[in-house]
Amino acid sequence: MIKLGVNIDHIATIRQARKEDFPSVTEAAALCEKAGADSITVHLREDRRHIQDKDVYGLRESLRTKLNLEMAASEEIVKIALDVKPDYVCLVPEKRQEVTTEGGVDVAGQKAKLSDIVDRLKKSGIIVSMFIDADIEQVNASSEINADCIEIHTGKYAEYFKKFGADPNEFQSEIKRISDASAHAVSKGLILNAGHGLDYKNLEGICKIASMNEFNIGFAIVAESVFTGLEKAVTDMKKLIKKYTGDM
Ligand code: PXP
Repeated sequence: MIKLGVNIDHIATIRQARKEDFPSVTEAAALCEKAGADSITVHLREDRRHIQDKDVYGLRESLRTKLNLEMAASEEIVKIALDVKPDYVCLVPEKRQEVTTEGGVDVAGQKAKLSDIVDRLKKSGIIVSMFIDADIEQVNASSEINADCIEIHTGKYAEYFKKFGADPNEFQSEIKRISDASAHAVSKGLILNAGHGLDYKNLEGICKIASMNEFNIGFAIVAESVFTGLEKAVTDMKKLIKKYTGDM
């Protein structure tokens, strides 16, 4: 079965909205693990907009499954990764102004820099992945710099599904692009992961890609949990009001 890595960045987004110490990402991660998550993913952004350094260190202590750290190829974050030693690192592109990670890393365009980072991370026992678009040139470059895995960016796939549904040509041609890049990656000995924009509606098509190892899914799961939890949260607050003020 394809494994599920749960990205809990947006638990931290809620916490940072108030700069509180709750909701706790370690508690959220424990719940995800209890529910069957195979790994927990966090993105330590250079602007620290959601996940903070202390979260990464805390998760390293508390997780029973695997810690997957998404990060830009920046020296500051590489140093933290080498200190924390997550099980996996996924190198992603990062722009300050973006709402979320737009597009994959241009591995082919910065092989020397990335090769050095991959080497240092691997030497410290970390399994290294490249978050790339479904593109043969990027797969080849990831293999050439000795990455262990690739994670295919499924953002376009998700966008086409939202716009057109599963039938039309745009969606099918994107599936073919992902299938071809995936098959090529596997033939090169790379472990195959995928993520970004995957949700409860669009998951089926991507599950059909052969040899997929793991999906990384964040926003859809955190957003869904609001609706699976909101009713109880309100009921519990009403119960407390009743308890403290009497039945009026
Ligand atoms: N994989 C990578 C490399 C990402 O950067 C992200 C977003 O942080 C995800 C997966 C998860 O995407 P989403 O939150 O849309 O499920």
